Amino acid sequence: MAQLILTGFMGTGKTEVGRRLARATQRPFVDTDKLVEAAAGRSIAEIFATEGEVRFRALEREAVQQAVAVPNAVVATGGGALLDPDSRRLLLSAGPVVCLTATPEEILRRLGDAEDRPLLRGGTPAERLAKIRAILDAREASYSLATHRIDTTGRSVDELVSEIRTLVGAE
Ligand code: S3P
Repeated sequence: MAQLILTGFMGTGKTEVGRRLARATQRPFVDTDKLVEAAAGRSIAEIFATEGEVRFRALEREAVQQAVAVPNAVVATGGGALLDPDSRRLLLSAGPVVCLTATPEEILRRLGDAEDRPLLRGGTPAERLAKIRAILDAREASYSLATHRIDTTGRSVDELVSEIRTLVGAE
């Protein structure tokens, strides 16, 4: 059976929804950020700080390859995985790609100081909100390639799991 891919911006709930969805549908759960950290033996923040985003994207590409090889898995990607052409091709051919979304204000609220998100952390909340808006704009074209989009703002994990199951027909 095909994989079910969850993608979308940081703070849209990919990991939590993905874990719950996997449990509900008795599928394995794979998180590409976790695969990257396991392969590198370091946190994502450390990888960005010491080797930069380009190296992180290369590690993420390998993690995506590993993830889509797990039969029947629910795969949660990092928020920028769809930007890389190779990762994008692999993900879109692995199964339906559900892009979770949320308003910039809701993303800011969920991420707080974003200490573990190297692309966002630092500055005032207003500055982080501006960064979130700018990155969302820059990524719109990539996110729009997903098979489905679901706004998670104000929604519970249970509601989202059941909506995704209906949407993709996941038993
Ligand atoms: C990133 C999102 C992060 C992580 C890395 C880069 C991004 O994952 O992969 O910090 O480019 O949006 P989450 O979306 O799980 O926070």
